[in-house]
Amino acid sequence: MFETLKAQPADKILSLMAAYRADPRDTKVDLGVGVYKDASGNTPVMRAVKEAERRIVADQTTKAYTGLAGDPAFADAMIDLVLADTVQRDRIAAIATPGGTGAIRQALELIRIASPDATVWLSNPTWPNHPSIIKFLGMKMQEYRYFNDSTRGVDFDGLIADLGTVAPGDVVLLHGCCHNPTGANPTADQWDQIIAVIKDRGAVPLVDIAYQGFGDGLQDDAAATRKVAAAFDNVLIAASCSKNFGIYRERTGILMGIAREAEEAKLTQANLNFLNRQNYSFPPDHGARVVSTILTDPALRADWEAELEETRNTMLALRQQLADELRQRANDDRFDFVAQHRGMFSRIGASPAEVETMRDKNGIYMVGDSRMNIAGLNADTVPLLAQAIVDAGV
Ligand code: LMR
Repeated sequence: MFETLKAQPADKILSLMAAYRADPRDTKVDLGVGVYKDASGNTPVMRAVKEAERRIVADQTTKAYTGLAGDPAFADAMIDLVLADTVQRDRIAAIATPGGTGAIRQALELIRIASPDATVWLSNPTWPNHPSIIKFLGMKMQEYRYFNDSTRGVDFDGLIADLGTVAPGDVVLLHGCCHNPTGANPTADQWDQIIAVIKDRGAVPLVDIAYQGFGDGLQDDAAATRKVAAAFDNVLIAASCSKNFGIYRERTGILMGIAREAEEAKLTQANLNFLNRQNYSFPPDHGARVVSTILTDPALRADWEAELEETRNTMLALRQQLADELRQRANDDRFDFVAQHRGMFSRIGASPAEVETMRDKNGIYMVGDSRMNIAGLNADTVPLLAQAIVDAGV
């Protein structure tokens, strides 16, 4: 049977991870996969996570199954973190999922059940796994313009023009904050216009929020998602805990489905539970329990927020340092956007050949579309990167 299998397309981000590992140079710099690293290159377990895990290990009396939707305390805590009190709780269905990717997958499967012919609109560019999963599920997709290659900001006119052609019932995938891969994000005013055009077209938003707390802070980063949630009858929100809790390998995420009213939410909940059951039965619990333990304990939560804030400020300082170094070395301000971008990533605007040159000559690993993980830098590697960018002729 297996002889019929064909090779699958390699994931660009994950193959870069492997190439980096295989490079023997000790001067190499990993700006690939979106994992936070401190100045010494470690991805630390956050203090609050360690403490929550200690308590769970000490106090947990059973490993029996949770519900199909996961632990309700996790859903409540995450709904509060992402949406605060924007939407009445009885309008929200939610399932715990294996990571943000699991939430995206379940969201798409729900869309496919509810509206098999809907086209899913993706920003161009977007996280490569978005189109990959949509294609795998046999769903329709289209792209809307998003990035202005010359300013390295949002191509807002292009975005609004393209969203203006979306058909009623189509789905528009939006990055709630910290756009991956570009780092360029709409302003608050622009979000209002994006919401207005999607509403006007009668489309449904699917928000992917994987970096809450990595951009402008926990509340500010949720502002656009909350606006979207407040504006529509139906919204899907896929949230990840991988980055902001640093629990990547625990696979902790949540899918929220906002319904028109409580009855519709019950039906949505039943469909989401069904999808969990079909795909993996009960969702993983450990990471979810760590998250709800932290979010519901005021002292742990304060400590988590403080550490997340340090992480965010570290990335902002690296952005500023890189923008300053580039300004000095390139002798102009064309790279100032690096300091304006938010989240882990910036698309620097290098061609694939320039990206390759930096990899071969300097051991700098960024994704082929020139997405850099800012958190892969430290104060010592920033000047090396700046020089490599200038030398490559970007
Ligand atoms: C990334 O974009 O690097 C992260 O979301 C990790 C991944 O799974 O691709």
